[in-house]
Amino acid sequence: MKRRQFIRNAALTGAGLAIGKTLTGCADTPSEEKKEATMKTKTQNTPIAICTWGFANANAKAGEELSKGVKALDAAISGVEVEEENLKNTTVGKGGAPDREGNVTLDACVMDSNGDCGSVLCVENITNVAELAKRVMTETPHVILASKGAEEFAYRQGFEKDQLLTDASKKAWEKWLESPEYKPLINIENHDTIGMLCMDKDGDIAGACTTSGLSYKMKGRVGDSPIIGSGLFIDNEIGGAVATGMGEEVLKTVGSFLIVELMRNGMSPQDACVEAVNRITSKNDRYKDFQIAYIAINKAGETGSYCIHKGFTYMKYQDGKNENVHSDYFDKA
Ligand code: GLY
Repeated sequence: MKRRQFIRNAALTGAGLAIGKTLTGCADTPSEEKKEATMKTKTQNTPIAICTWGFANANAKAGEELSKGVKALDAAISGVEVEEENLKNTTVGKGGAPDREGNVTLDACVMDSNGDCGSVLCVENITNVAELAKRVMTETPHVILASKGAEEFAYRQGFEKDQLLTDASKKAWEKWLESPEYKPLINIENHDTIGMLCMDKDGDIAGACTTSGLSYKMKGRVGDSPIIGSGLFIDNEIGGAVATGMGEEVLKTVGSFLIVELMRNGMSPQDACVEAVNRITSKNDRYKDFQIAYIAINKAGETGSYCIHKGFTYMKYQDGKNENVHSDYFDKA
Protein backbone atom coordinates (compact mmCIF):
# COMPACT_ATOMS: atom_id res chain seq x y z
CA MET A 1 0.00 0.00 0.00
CA LYS A 2 1.34 3.42 -0.88
CA ARG A 3 2.28 5.57 2.12
CA ARG A 4 -0.26 8.27 1.27
CA GLN A 5 -3.06 5.70 0.95
CA PHE A 6 -1.97 4.11 4.24
CA ILE A 7 -2.15 7.47 6.03
CA ARG A 8 -5.59 8.17 4.55
CA ASN A 9 -6.90 4.78 5.64
CA ALA A 10 -5.45 5.22 9.11
CA ALA A 11 -7.13 8.62 9.42
CA LEU A 12 -10.46 7.22 8.35
CA THR A 13 -10.15 4.34 10.80
CA GLY A 14 -9.35 6.81 13.59
CA ALA A 15 -12.40 8.90 12.74
CA GLY A 16 -14.53 5.77 12.71
CA LEU A 17 -13.31 4.79 16.16
CA ALA A 18 -14.05 8.24 17.52
CA ILE A 19 -17.64 8.23 16.36
CA GLY A 20 -18.32 4.53 16.76
CA LYS A 21 -19.81 4.75 20.23
CA THR A 22 -22.26 7.38 19.18
CA LEU A 23 -23.31 5.62 16.04
CA THR A 24 -24.00 2.36 17.81
CA GLY A 25 -25.70 4.21 20.67
CA CYS A 26 -28.03 6.20 18.40
CA ALA A 27 -31.61 5.06 18.00
CA ASP A 28 -31.80 6.75 14.61
CA THR A 29 -29.13 6.76 11.98
CA PRO A 30 -29.08 10.31 10.62
CA SER A 31 -31.11 10.61 7.45
CA GLU A 32 -29.41 11.49 4.18
CA GLU A 33 -31.41 14.78 4.13
CA LYS A 34 -30.14 15.67 7.60
CA LYS A 35 -26.55 14.90 6.62
CA GLU A 36 -26.98 16.93 3.44
CA ALA A 37 -28.34 19.89 5.43
CA THR A 38 -25.38 19.69 7.79
CA MET A 39 -22.91 19.56 4.93
CA LYS A 40 -24.45 22.41 2.90
CA THR A 41 -21.81 24.68 1.47
CA LYS A 42 -21.91 28.44 0.93
CA THR A 43 -25.36 28.78 2.50
CA GLN A 44 -24.66 31.42 5.06
CA ASN A 45 -23.64 34.85 3.92
CA THR A 46 -24.17 36.56 7.23
CA PRO A 47 -20.83 36.51 9.00
CA ILE A 48 -20.80 34.95 12.45
CA ALA A 49 -18.13 35.05 15.15
CA ILE A 50 -18.37 33.10 18.37
CA CYS A 51 -15.81 32.86 21.14
CA THR A 52 -15.47 31.29 24.55
CA TRP A 53 -16.30 33.37 27.66
CA GLY A 54 -17.37 37.00 27.78
CA PHE A 55 -14.58 38.36 25.61
CA ALA A 56 -16.88 40.97 24.07
CA ASN A 57 -14.19 43.21 22.57
CA ALA A 58 -12.37 40.32 20.96
CA ASN A 59 -15.54 38.92 19.44
CA ALA A 60 -16.72 42.34 18.25
CA LYS A 61 -13.36 42.88 16.56
CA ALA A 62 -13.67 39.57 14.69
CA GLY A 63 -17.31 40.29 13.78
CA GLU A 64 -16.42 43.73 12.41
CA GLU A 65 -13.57 42.31 10.38
CA LEU A 66 -15.86 39.65 8.94
CA SER A 67 -18.44 42.30 8.05
CA LYS A 68 -15.76 44.15 6.07
CA GLY A 69 -15.13 40.98 4.07
CA VAL A 70 -12.03 39.72 5.89
CA LYS A 71 -11.69 35.94 5.60
CA ALA A 72 -12.57 33.74 8.57
CA LEU A 73 -9.05 32.86 9.73
CA ASP A 74 -7.68 36.40 9.67
CA ALA A 75 -10.81 37.68 11.43
CA ALA A 76 -10.43 35.04 14.16
CA ILE A 77 -6.77 35.90 14.68
CA SER A 78 -7.44 39.63 14.90
CA GLY A 79 -10.20 38.86 17.40
CA VAL A 80 -8.11 36.72 19.73
CA GLU A 81 -5.24 39.21 19.55
CA VAL A 82 -7.41 41.63 21.53
CA GLU A 83 -7.10 39.26 24.48
CA GLU A 84 -3.48 38.31 23.82
CA GLU A 85 -2.68 42.00 24.24
CA ASN A 86 -5.04 42.62 27.17
CA LEU A 87 -2.74 42.93 30.18
CA LYS A 88 -5.64 42.46 32.58
CA ASN A 89 -6.40 39.02 31.19
CA THR A 90 -4.45 36.54 33.29
CA THR A 91 -5.25 33.49 31.17
CA VAL A 92 -4.24 34.54 27.66
CA GLY A 93 -1.17 36.22 26.14
CA LYS A 94 0.77 39.00 27.82
CA GLY A 95 -0.25 39.25 31.48
CA GLY A 96 -1.06 35.54 31.61
CA ALA A 97 -0.27 33.66 34.81
CA PRO A 98 3.20 32.04 34.75
CA ASP A 99 4.16 28.46 35.44
CA ARG A 100 5.27 27.58 38.98
CA GLU A 101 8.80 28.78 38.18
CA GLY A 102 7.61 32.21 37.09
CA ASN A 103 7.83 31.78 33.30
CA VAL A 104 4.84 32.73 31.16
CA THR A 105 4.52 30.14 28.39
CA LEU A 106 1.84 30.43 25.73
CA ASP A 107 0.07 27.85 23.55
CA ALA A 108 -1.98 28.51 20.41
CA CYS A 109 -3.29 26.96 17.24
CA VAL A 110 -5.24 27.96 14.17
CA MET A 111 -7.14 25.95 11.59
CA ASP A 112 -8.27 27.24 8.22
CA SER A 113 -11.22 26.38 6.02
CA ASN A 114 -9.03 24.41 3.62
CA GLY A 115 -7.98 22.04 6.42
CA ASP A 116 -4.54 23.58 6.94
CA CYS A 117 -3.43 24.20 10.48
CA GLY A 118 -0.56 25.47 12.58
CA SER A 119 0.33 25.34 16.24
CA VAL A 120 2.88 26.61 18.77
CA LEU A 121 3.54 25.12 22.20
CA CYS A 122 5.09 26.52 25.32
CA VAL A 123 6.37 29.76 23.75
CA GLU A 124 8.02 32.46 25.87
CA ASN A 125 8.48 36.18 25.09
CA ILE A 126 6.03 36.38 22.17
CA THR A 127 2.58 37.93 22.65
CA ASN A 128 0.71 37.14 19.41
CA VAL A 129 1.03 33.39 19.37
CA ALA A 130 -2.11 32.77 17.28
CA GLU A 131 -0.51 34.75 14.44
CA LEU A 132 2.70 32.80 15.09
CA ALA A 133 0.74 29.54 14.72
CA LYS A 134 -0.58 30.84 11.39
CA ARG A 135 3.00 31.52 10.26
CA VAL A 136 3.94 27.93 11.14
CA MET A 137 1.07 26.92 8.86
CA THR A 138 1.93 29.25 5.99
CA GLU A 139 5.72 29.65 6.21
CA THR A 140 6.99 26.19 7.19
CA PRO A 141 6.41 22.62 6.00
CA HIS A 142 5.33 21.73 9.57
CA VAL A 143 2.21 21.90 11.72
CA ILE A 144 3.72 22.30 15.20
CA LEU A 145 6.72 24.20 16.56
CA ALA A 146 7.53 24.07 20.26
CA SER A 147 9.31 26.18 22.83
CA LYS A 148 12.67 27.77 21.82
CA GLY A 149 12.29 26.63 18.22
CA ALA A 150 8.96 28.43 17.96
CA GLU A 151 10.39 31.52 19.65
CA GLU A 152 13.41 31.66 17.32
CA PHE A 153 11.11 31.18 14.31
CA ALA A 154 9.02 34.11 15.59
CA TYR A 155 12.05 36.43 15.59
CA ARG A 156 12.93 35.32 12.07
CA GLN A 157 9.37 36.22 11.10
CA GLY A 158 9.77 39.73 12.54
CA PHE A 159 7.95 39.27 15.86
CA GLU A 160 9.34 41.36 18.71
CA LYS A 161 10.59 40.00 22.02
CA ASP A 162 8.13 40.97 24.75
CA GLN A 163 8.03 40.74 28.54
CA LEU A 164 4.94 38.60 29.18
CA LEU A 165 5.12 38.58 32.98
CA THR A 166 3.43 41.76 34.17
CA ASP A 167 3.95 43.24 37.64
CA ALA A 168 0.44 42.14 38.61
CA SER A 169 0.99 38.54 37.43
CA LYS A 170 4.35 38.43 39.18
CA LYS A 171 2.79 39.63 42.43
CA ALA A 172 0.02 37.04 42.23
CA TRP A 173 2.56 34.28 41.54
CA GLU A 174 4.71 35.38 44.50
CA LYS A 175 1.63 35.24 46.69
CA TRP A 176 0.83 31.75 45.37
CA LEU A 177 4.38 30.65 46.24
CA GLU A 178 3.69 31.40 49.92
CA SER A 179 1.49 28.28 50.11
CA PRO A 180 1.67 26.64 46.71
CA GLU A 181 -1.32 24.46 46.03
CA TYR A 182 -1.94 23.06 42.57
CA LYS A 183 -5.66 23.13 42.26
CA PRO A 184 -7.52 24.00 39.06
CA LEU A 185 -10.03 26.79 39.56
CA ILE A 186 -13.48 26.40 38.06
CA ASN A 187 -14.43 29.39 35.87
CA ILE A 188 -11.21 31.19 36.73
CA GLU A 189 -12.48 34.74 37.17
CA ASN A 190 -15.05 33.80 34.55
CA HIS A 191 -12.59 33.52 31.74
CA ASP A 192 -9.91 31.19 30.50
CA THR A 193 -8.64 30.16 27.08
CA ILE A 194 -10.07 32.15 24.21
CA GLY A 195 -11.22 29.91 21.39
CA MET A 196 -12.89 31.62 18.44
CA LEU A 197 -14.80 30.29 15.44
CA CYS A 198 -15.64 32.52 12.48
CA MET A 199 -17.85 32.07 9.45
CA ASP A 200 -17.11 34.65 6.76
CA LYS A 201 -19.19 36.13 3.97
CA ASP A 202 -18.37 33.18 1.71
CA GLY A 203 -19.68 30.79 4.36
CA ASP A 204 -16.16 29.52 5.06
CA ILE A 205 -15.29 28.54 8.63
CA ALA A 206 -11.94 28.86 10.44
CA GLY A 207 -10.80 29.22 14.03
CA ALA A 208 -8.09 30.16 16.50
CA CYS A 209 -7.38 29.14 20.08
CA THR A 210 -4.84 30.81 22.41
CA THR A 211 -3.99 30.55 26.11
CA SER A 212 -1.37 30.81 28.82
CA GLY A 213 -2.68 27.47 30.10
CA LEU A 214 -3.23 26.47 33.69
CA SER A 215 -1.98 28.99 36.23
CA TYR A 216 1.20 27.82 37.99
CA LYS A 217 1.39 24.70 35.86
CA MET A 218 4.47 22.47 35.86
CA LYS A 219 7.27 23.72 33.65
CA GLY A 220 6.73 22.36 30.14
CA ARG A 221 3.08 21.46 30.67
CA VAL A 222 0.95 21.84 27.54
CA GLY A 223 -2.82 21.53 27.52
CA ASP A 224 -5.41 21.02 24.82
CA SER A 225 -5.45 24.49 23.32
CA PRO A 226 -2.63 24.13 20.76
CA ILE A 227 -3.50 20.52 19.89
CA ILE A 228 -5.50 20.28 16.69
CA GLY A 229 -8.53 18.06 17.28
CA SER A 230 -8.57 18.68 21.03
CA GLY A 231 -8.58 22.47 21.56
CA LEU A 232 -9.83 23.27 18.06
CA PHE A 233 -11.04 21.48 14.97
CA ILE A 234 -12.55 22.69 11.71
CA ASP A 235 -13.96 20.84 8.76
CA ASN A 236 -15.29 23.47 6.40
CA GLU A 237 -17.87 21.07 4.96
CA ILE A 238 -19.31 20.44 8.41
CA GLY A 239 -18.41 23.10 11.01
CA GLY A 240 -15.99 23.75 13.83
CA ALA A 241 -15.56 23.44 17.58
CA VAL A 242 -13.27 24.85 20.29
CA ALA A 243 -12.71 23.98 23.93
CA THR A 244 -11.87 25.80 27.14
CA GLY A 245 -11.20 24.56 30.64
CA MET A 246 -9.16 21.67 31.98
CA GLY A 247 -7.07 20.71 28.97
CA GLU A 248 -6.03 17.27 30.18
CA GLU A 249 -9.61 15.98 30.00
CA VAL A 250 -10.22 17.54 26.59
CA LEU A 251 -7.05 15.86 25.32
CA LYS A 252 -8.19 12.46 26.55
CA THR A 253 -11.41 12.68 24.56
CA VAL A 254 -10.14 14.66 21.54
CA GLY A 255 -13.15 16.87 22.19
CA SER A 256 -13.26 19.31 19.28
CA PHE A 257 -12.70 16.63 16.65
CA LEU A 258 -15.38 14.53 18.31
CA ILE A 259 -17.89 17.39 18.09
CA VAL A 260 -17.24 17.96 14.39
CA GLU A 261 -17.60 14.23 13.70
CA LEU A 262 -20.86 14.12 15.64
CA MET A 263 -22.14 17.04 13.56
CA ARG A 264 -21.02 15.19 10.41
CA ASN A 265 -23.36 12.43 11.48
CA GLY A 266 -26.30 14.75 11.83
CA MET A 267 -26.15 16.13 15.37
CA SER A 268 -26.80 19.82 15.97
CA PRO A 269 -23.87 21.85 17.40
CA GLN A 270 -25.72 21.92 20.73
CA ASP A 271 -26.27 18.15 20.92
CA ALA A 272 -22.71 17.48 19.80
CA CYS A 273 -21.32 19.69 22.59
CA VAL A 274 -23.54 17.88 25.12
CA GLU A 275 -22.27 14.50 23.94
CA ALA A 276 -18.63 15.62 24.13
CA VAL A 277 -19.12 16.77 27.74
CA ASN A 278 -20.93 13.51 28.54
CA ARG A 279 -17.92 11.53 27.32
CA ILE A 280 -15.96 13.20 30.13
CA THR A 281 -18.49 13.23 32.94
CA SER A 282 -19.55 9.62 32.36
CA LYS A 283 -16.02 8.33 32.85
CA ASN A 284 -15.22 9.62 36.32
CA ASP A 285 -16.40 11.74 39.22
CA ARG A 286 -13.44 14.08 39.05
CA TYR A 287 -15.47 16.37 36.81
CA LYS A 288 -16.75 17.98 40.02
CA ASP A 289 -13.36 19.65 40.40
CA PHE A 290 -12.88 21.13 36.97
CA GLN A 291 -14.68 23.02 34.25
CA ILE A 292 -14.77 22.17 30.58
CA ALA A 293 -16.82 24.02 27.99
CA TYR A 294 -17.23 23.64 24.26
CA ILE A 295 -18.70 25.92 21.63
CA ALA A 296 -19.49 24.84 18.08
CA ILE A 297 -20.87 26.11 14.78
CA ASN A 298 -22.15 24.17 11.80
CA LYS A 299 -22.22 25.01 8.11
CA ALA A 300 -25.78 26.30 8.36
CA GLY A 301 -24.62 28.90 10.89
CA GLU A 302 -26.26 27.20 13.88
CA THR A 303 -24.26 27.44 17.09
CA GLY A 304 -24.25 25.60 20.39
CA SER A 305 -22.39 25.24 23.66
CA TYR A 306 -22.31 23.04 26.72
CA CYS A 307 -20.15 22.88 29.83
CA ILE A 308 -19.82 20.94 33.07
CA HIS A 309 -20.50 23.64 35.65
CA LYS A 310 -22.70 26.70 35.72
CA GLY A 311 -20.96 29.95 34.88
CA PHE A 312 -19.68 29.52 31.35
CA THR A 313 -20.84 32.04 28.77
CA TYR A 314 -19.85 32.65 25.17
CA MET A 315 -20.03 35.60 22.80
CA LYS A 316 -21.95 35.50 19.53
CA TYR A 317 -21.69 38.18 16.84
CA GLN A 318 -24.25 38.11 14.06
CA ASP A 319 -26.07 40.83 12.09
CA GLY A 320 -24.07 43.53 13.88
CA LYS A 321 -25.15 42.29 17.33
CA ASN A 322 -22.60 40.99 19.82
CA GLU A 323 -24.38 38.99 22.53
CA ASN A 324 -23.25 37.14 25.63
CA VAL A 325 -24.98 33.75 25.68
CA HIS A 326 -25.31 31.69 28.88
CA SER A 327 -24.41 28.09 28.28
CA ASP A 328 -26.44 25.17 29.50
CA TYR A 329 -24.48 22.92 31.84
CA PHE A 330 -24.24 19.36 33.13
CA ASP A 331 -23.81 19.62 36.92
CA LYS A 332 -27.24 20.76 38.04
CA ALA A 333 -27.07 18.96 41.39
N1 GLY B 1 -7.60 24.78 28.13
C1 GLY B 1 -6.39 25.39 28.46
C2 GLY B 1 -5.42 24.50 29.10
O1 GLY B 1 -5.79 23.51 29.72
O2 GLY B 1 -4.25 24.76 29.00
